[in-house]
Amino acid sequence: MSFKLVLSLVFLIEFYTFVYTRKLIMSETASINLNGKTLELSVITGTENEKAIDISKLRDQSGYITLDPGFKNTGATKSAITFLDGEKGILKYRGYKIEELAEKSTFLEVAYLLIYGELPSKQVLEKFRSDIKGQMMVHEDMKNFFAGFPSKSHPMGQLSCLVGALSAFYPESLNPNQNEEEEYQTIVNLIGKMPTIVSWIQKKSLGHPVVYPKKDLGYIDNFMNMIFGEVNCDKIFDDAVLDAMRVLLILHADHEQNCSASTVRIVGSSNANLYASISAGINALWGPLHGGANQAVIEMLEDIKKDGGDVEKYLAKAKDKNDPFRLMGFGHRVYKNFDPRAKIIKKAADEVLEKLGVQDPVLDIAKGLEQAALSDQYFIDRKLYPNVDFYSGIIYRALGFNAEMFTVLFALGRLPGWIAQWKEMRDNKEPIGRPRQVYTGEVDREYVDLENR
Ligand code: CMC
Repeated sequence: MSFKLVLSLVFLIEFYTFVYTRKLIMSETASINLNGKTLELSVITGTENEKAIDISKLRDQSGYITLDPGFKNTGATKSAITFLDGEKGILKYRGYKIEELAEKSTFLEVAYLLIYGELPSKQVLEKFRSDIKGQMMVHEDMKNFFAGFPSKSHPMGQLSCLVGALSAFYPESLNPNQNEEEEYQTIVNLIGKMPTIVSWIQKKSLGHPVVYPKKDLGYIDNFMNMIFGEVNCDKIFDDAVLDAMRVLLILHADHEQNCSASTVRIVGSSNANLYASISAGINALWGPLHGGANQAVIEMLEDIKKDGGDVEKYLAKAKDKNDPFRLMGFGHRVYKNFDPRAKIIKKAADEVLEKLGVQDPVLDIAKGLEQAALSDQYFIDRKLYPNVDFYSGIIYRALGFNAEMFTVLFALGRLPGWIAQWKEMRDNKEPIGRPRQVYTGEVDREYVDLENR
């Protein structure tokens, strides 16, 4: 066979495969039969071959809505930011595997990737870094507002208020219809100020004066110095500490349509500004079923330790349907195999504790609990595995953070993901988020006067 013939054959095969798969993608439909009437619904296929039935016109065609409390099986958007396969334990940001990003990239590189879709070139990254560094100072007047918080207020409550308050101190970035350059400025402003705000909260909890950002330090070094350094006395950190922080921030940077990301998108869909939308996301993250789990895990492990370290007793409590206790840091809405982030974090926890020479008895309890749960039929049947929050608190503790700060650290890592979700929703011109409901309340009641009730 001549070379030309082989080439034409290869071309034909490629061409027909392309047409055939395109046809499949375009022509697949789902039918639904309602009261004898058949409705055809189109099927959408994602780039990782995920399938969805498009029900957006269902109500117009039939009067019916779909019901799915907790959105367990509902896609709220098409997104090109993060892909995860819960059955296979795969997580990718913009097509790059989380394992590779955690090993090779910096946090700001990942932030740029999530928000703008591509890994930045050297020059672009340098500009992004320096623009962010230039925005790390927070308006001094914000300190007056900050001073009003009682020193014992929960860091997450303070964080959401302070991020929301940025809209009052930087009103030039309030317009959600900013041009590209203005939007970029708002984004670098927020990424720059977030570590400074977090450090204020930490310092307040200790009653210590705040430490200002330094021009000669990088993003993570600056953050750690503002947290653990003292005025006029910088702190030098072991590379292992800075690296653990880098990995943790990258692993938390995005996780597609979770509770807080969906909150950010839905708040932003009303044309609320970026600060207001992120502030709402911070509140959504606070709950112990979401980001607040990292604090809850350490508190649970401490309780088990105080109670004699009997992990079986706590496993039994977690399985008892009459006991509200849940094994914090276990289970996930989407991961039904393992959470790839937990794998990386567990290894990082071992490494950082060894490097710092920290002996944490709570780590032994965590390992014992994990082992017992993974071989327990209740957890096997329900596909419950340790999630990202199970081991992250152990690292944060080893680095010197108190438990109430853990979820704030999650928020610092998640910030680029929230911004990316907000920006994608705006760029796609998505409509205002407004779910339907099935009303189950009373119908047509007569008002009864107060004296007759
Ligand atoms: N301990 C004991 N039982 C559990 C747990 C747990 N941690 N998680 C789920 N189950 C059981 C649950 O009782 C139910 O059992 P059954 O089918 O007999 O009624 C079954 O597993 C399915 O649970 P679900 O509550 O329907 O699952 P969900 O997808 O609605 O909830 C979850 C997911 C993460 C909220 C839940 O697993 C949980 O509460 N875990 C503990 C809190 C936690 O660690 N949250 C952090 C999540 S990862 C960080 C993040 O991205 O937010």
